[in-house]
Formats: sequence, structure tokens, C-alpha cells
Amino acid sequence: DQANIGVTGLAVMGRNLARNLARHGHTVALHNRHQQRTDDLVAQFGDEGTFVPTGSAAEFVAALERPRKLIVMVKAGGPTDAVIEEFAPLLEDGDMIVDGGNAHFADTRRREKALRERGLHFVGTGVSGGEEGALHGPSIMPGGSREAYASLGPILTDIAADVDGTPCCTHIGPDGAGHFVKMVHNGIEYADMQLIAEAYDLLRHALGLEPAQIADIFRDWNTGRLDSYLIEITAQVLGHVDAATGRPFVDVVVDQAEQKGTGRWTVQTALELGVPTTGIAEAVFARSLSGGAALREAARGLPGPARAPITGAAAETLAADIEQALYASKVVAYAQGFNEIQAGAAEYDWPIDLGAVATIWRGGCIIRAAFLDDIRAAYANDPALPTLLTDGGFAEAVRDAQDSWRSVVATAARLGIPAPGFSSALSYYDALRAQRLPAALVQGQRDYFGAHTYQRVDRPGTFHTEWATRDAAEHEV
Ligand code: 6PG
Repeated sequence: DQANIGVTGLAVMGRNLARNLARHGHTVALHNRHQQRTDDLVAQFGDEGTFVPTGSAAEFVAALERPRKLIVMVKAGGPTDAVIEEFAPLLEDGDMIVDGGNAHFADTRRREKALRERGLHFVGTGVSGGEEGALHGPSIMPGGSREAYASLGPILTDIAADVDGTPCCTHIGPDGAGHFVKMVHNGIEYADMQLIAEAYDLLRHALGLEPAQIADIFRDWNTGRLDSYLIEITAQVLGHVDAATGRPFVDVVVDQAEQKGTGRWTVQTALELGVPTTGIAEAVFARSLSGGAALREAARGLPGPARAPITGAAAETLAADIEQALYASKVVAYAQGFNEIQAGAAEYDWPIDLGAVATIWRGGCIIRAAFLDDIRAAYANDPALPTLLTDGGFAEAVRDAQDSWRSVVATAARLGIPAPGFSSALSYYDALRAQRLPAALVQGQRDYFGAHTYQRVDRPGTFHTEWATRDAAEHEV
């Protein structure tokens, strides 16, 4: 029997995707560099559906019905290129290679172009949801051609998560669009995690609460507008007690956050596109700072303010204020992420539907949350929304949150508790709404030392002031 789809690269993500496909009635050809993994999968999960285990690349290709659909689930970078080079020569016109790894969108653009010239479809596809998502329903962000999506779409939609019957999968746009959107998803994931971590840190050190108490607060928040997968697992992690020591788990983990690079890519790309994604940048830098063990050791003795935990009625308000600050900062981080997608779409000529992106992030992925449905609604209401912050609902919620937000940022500063995510989000909000920015002064400085010129508010043209002359005469250039 020929398989209607194949998966090569059977580490945990590939294995679980293959199982998900088989569980949905697809006949799945299997391939892995070391055949042992293929055999293990069939031995352990063979009864979940119809698998066609294969040994060599040629056998794998021969097992697939045409046009062939190969899902590649290997490490991004060199290993992905190696697998493409292994299979492309064995494929025929119209066959499709789906890259489900966390590839950089620029690599995906390059690969798509090269394979298109060879008559093959290359479908860079973002897959989010971790191991569990891959097995039970991820959020899927396919790029590539419309033509490829026409035949892949029904299969991907079938295995994706769904929210109220709407699948968490949609064609994002050509070539690298899917991986671009997945990259920004991960950037937002970093920002959201950092903001939650700051909320925890404030509850712990401004209020003096224990992790188990904070877990209860997060559980409570998870019943409201912050309802999300990340808040839910935060409560689980904070409630967990280390078996070996009996201490809170969070206290026995080394406080240095690692990263595999997708958050950094999001920020690098934002810098190139000129989109201020300060929330994501702060999150990436916060991880880097945490990892700078020697620097932190050297600086540990630097003076800070006296910290007396806040108690009584003030404590009650502070916990509620932190919820408001977290929510408002989260709106900023998501607004920035969606603006980066908008800028990427403009730069690369991708017709990305932001509302559709929010829709497929409502389930399956790491940032899945009730909140994403509000973002979907905001873009449904106005597809050309300049920023989520000006959407009626979000604008109102942030307006109502802002006193609390300001007070939390002030409290953090007063007590010497770092809150880079909360405070930079607030600065972004204040900068966006400012009538005048000190950028006018920066322009003056640039013109002074470098004759870089400026524009005037009262008439068109480009001007320079002769700063070195006695009368500082201005002339149009
Ligand atoms: C997902 C996750 C997934 C992975 C991250 C972790 O959407 O399923 O984002 O892609 O867990 O890459 O990233 P870091 O290791 O960089 O934190």
C-alpha cells in the first residue's frame, strides 16, 4: 500500500506528528537516518494506525503516492539542508517537501526558491505546541505556494488543534511567511514568559509570598482574562515541590534562562525592519543577562534600596495591580509582535491576514489563550488596525489598567526589583501616545555635529542650521 504522506526525522516531534497523522487515518511512510528509531516507533505505536516503515531514502520516496508529500522534522540549519539534498534528487515535478522545524524564514525563502527552480514545492511550516501539541493537535503555520497548500491543507487541518470547530491551521503566505510567523510566535512566547516571570518576582519579593501561594494567585488569574496555557503551566511549576529537598522546585533550579535562538531572530529581524518590539527584546536580553553568571557574581554586592515586603491592605491592592500590569504589558508585547508580522508582510510581499494568525494561535500553540480571540476580533473589526492598542476593547482595558500598571512599575523601581518587561512596555505605551517626542532634540543634535539636516513642523523641505556661525543661520538644502 502506498502512503499518502511521509515523515522523515523521527525524534520526538517527528514521531508524534507521524502518530497524529496515523491516528487520523493517514497512511504514513516513516524514515529516519538511523533505522532503529523507525522500528521503535512501529513496535511501540504500530497499532495506532497504518505506518509504512522504510530504510533507505529511495525506499521512503518509493513508498509515497504522487504527488509526494514528505514532512521533514530535523534540526534547523545544516541538517535540514542535508535532508533536502538527500531527497530532492529522488523527487519528481510537483512533489512537496514540508519543513516542520524551526527554520529561519530567510533559509526557507532560499530553499523554496531553489526547489521551485527544480520543479518541487517547498513548504516551510511553523509547528507549535511542543511534543504534546504534535501528538494531539498543534497550531500549524504553513507557508509555500497556494498550489501546495491546496493538497496539503486538508491533511494539516485534519491533525491541527481546533477551537470551537475552527482548525488552528491556515495558509500564511508564500515562501518564508509560515516560518516568519512561527518566529514571531516564539518571540511573543518569550515576551509573555518574561512578563509572567516578572509578575512572579514582584509577588515573591514585593509581597513576600511563597511559591505555593503565588501558584494559587496564578490559578485564580487563569479564570479571568489572563486565561492561557502559559499561566496554567506557571501555576503548575510554582506549585511543584522538589522531591529530593522538599523545597519549592523553582528555588532549586539554576536561575539562568537558556534559549535556542528563535526569540533572538525575532529581535534581529525587527531591528532590520525597524519595528520596535521592545517587549520581545527585553525578554531576550533578560535571558542573556540571567545567563551572565560571572558578570552577575561581580555585581552582586552593588547597593540597592532597603526592601521591606508590603503587607496589609496595600498588599491586597498590589496583587491586583500586578494582574493589571501583566495584562497591559501583554497587550503591548502582542501589539508589537503583530506589527512585526505586518512589517514582514510588507517587506516580503506576503498577503498575511493578521486576524487569521490570531485565529490559529487560539489553540494548539504555546501562547494559546482566550486573549487571542480578542485579537482575532480586533482585526475582524478593522483589518488595517495600526496597533492593537488603538482597538476599542484593548484601548479601554489598558486605560483602566494604567494606574495600576504605573504603580507597579514605580513599586518595582522603589524596591529595586527588576521589571524590564513591565517598565519598557509602559514606556512604549507612553511614547506612542505622546504629542511630542524628544526625537526633535535628537534631530537637532544630529544636525549640529554632522549636518544631518532636519524637517520643520511648519513648512515642507529639508533644513540645516549653520551651528558654528554667530547667527546660526538656517537654510534649506
Ligand atoms: C513551540 C515552541 C517550540 C520550542 C521553543 C523553545 O511553539 O512549540 O516555541 O518551538 O519549545 O523553540 O524555545 P527556547 O528554547 O528558545 O526557549
